Amino acid sequence: MSQDVTEAGLVERFVSKLLKTKNPDDMLAQSAETGLKKTLNWVDLIILGIGAVIGAGIFSMVGSAVVGTPEHPGAGPALIISMIIAAIACIFSALCYAEFASMIPVSGGVYTYTFATMGELAAWIVGWVLMLQYTIGNIAVACSWTGYLLQFLRGFEPYTAHLPAFLQGIAHHIMYPPLWLVSDYGTAKAAYLKMGLNPADHIPHLFGLIPLSVNIPAILMILLVTAILVKGISESKNMAGIMVIIKLVVIGLFIGVGAFYVKPDNWTPFMPNGLGSVLISAFTIFFAYTGFDAISTAAEETKNPQRDIPIGIIGTLVLCTVVYIFVALVLTGVVRWDMINIHAPIAHAMQVTGQGWVAGLISVGALTGLTSVLLVMQLAATRILFSMARDNFFPTILKKVHPVYKTPHVITWVVGIAMVIGCMFLDLNLAASLCIFSVFTSFIIVCIGVLILRKTDPDRPRPFKVPCSPLFPALGILLCGTLMVVAVISMGKTALLFPLWLFIGLAIYFSYGYKRNRRMEAIEDKKRANREAREKAAAAAVSKK
Ligand code: ALA
Repeated sequence: MSQDVTEAGLVERFVSKLLKTKNPDDMLAQSAETGLKKTLNWVDLIILGIGAVIGAGIFSMVGSAVVGTPEHPGAGPALIISMIIAAIACIFSALCYAEFASMIPVSGGVYTYTFATMGELAAWIVGWVLMLQYTIGNIAVACSWTGYLLQFLRGFEPYTAHLPAFLQGIAHHIMYPPLWLVSDYGTAKAAYLKMGLNPADHIPHLFGLIPLSVNIPAILMILLVTAILVKGISESKNMAGIMVIIKLVVIGLFIGVGAFYVKPDNWTPFMPNGLGSVLISAFTIFFAYTGFDAISTAAEETKNPQRDIPIGIIGTLVLCTVVYIFVALVLTGVVRWDMINIHAPIAHAMQVTGQGWVAGLISVGALTGLTSVLLVMQLAATRILFSMARDNFFPTILKKVHPVYKTPHVITWVVGIAMVIGCMFLDLNLAASLCIFSVFTSFIIVCIGVLILRKTDPDRPRPFKVPCSPLFPALGILLCGTLMVVAVISMGKTALLFPLWLFIGLAIYFSYGYKRNRRMEAIEDKKRANREAREKAAAAAVSKK
């Protein structure tokens, strides 16, 4: 076969490879071959969805969304408006997810959909962005985990008075560990400065040079979750179900008990920092809604994906929105907006009401709920990376499956260790912001993907269709895009970290992924040619006889 080796021909070939899409029919055939057990129904999907969605966003970040951070002001009681804006931005993309998942029910979620519509380069970018979403998002969740652990431990303070003196001393150190043992360096430094202390006097330095500040509880938790995921998915799924129930119960308890302590006066001023702060908080609290897309990655294991995936995605979103609005109303009604605690706001609010026991239960529930988010998000991260490794974007070793546990253990550990490293440098808010940028990017891509596939493959059966297309997908793109712009303006230089991540991703693709894919294609072509030659020779031999 002769090939066009002129410059124009080479460029054309290069571009055609970048835009090379995967055929949805091939994907469906491949997924049928993998033979994953189809056991999930829409109730399971909603449980899975809530497992991934309700976590650090509502248990921790809600505090900074109301009160604000040094970088931006908070929304105050108007947080419920921010929540509604964030929910609306989600719902358009959720509908697009549902259309895709019902049309191409294979695992891999948005990464797979992008491969089907926009080709290899776009799929790589999405996969790379999703990695940021799940791994960095999980770092935020792990930081929140530490916050609730400390809140929980401090609940024991009143009881330590009865202990012998030396035990009291130990208990005190556990309840109030030095900051450098429970936070990243940036957070510890900022906290010491805020207290008027010199960080250098309190944070130890390795070899007198490198400051040593590590969030030990978060790191231990990440390692534990990684080990659980390596051991097996079925255990993880059962555990996630129990954790979801626990977290729903404690949130119900917070709303039920807190409702009696709401003082409507606390809701005024309703919007203390103006409309801009409400939009910025919509961006911040968006984190609380992320994760429902994990449902679409379970499409291959769903009994009736065409019906159950749309119900699962939209049901999760609606349920979480209702729960969040009640939580926000109670939280801002119980504690004045500027007095809300930013590390463990929900449990702290119960302490303010004098209901210490509810605060304790909430901390336990939050710890459980956050653990379920860690599990589901890390599971999703490994599955997407596994799909990418299968598509030759990564070295073969990452495709390895554990001989006994039958899980992709190498990838799972790589993700776990990357998160541990990230934990040393990122705090909750920074990690969550980076995560939200990637979520918006993937949401926008899903909306664009739906519009593209409606044009390029209009006859493919769509058991669920986004209503009012192209208006709804376009609104999804517009809303997510606007919130991203608001965030870029408010975050300043920090927002540059996201394009930096994209740039690194592109550099890896062009220096490794692209070449590896072409090499694999050449091997496949050679194999096919050999096979055809053998078949031809065999046919010739038969006809000679
Ligand atoms: N939405 C998830 C959370 O809030 C990621 O923790």
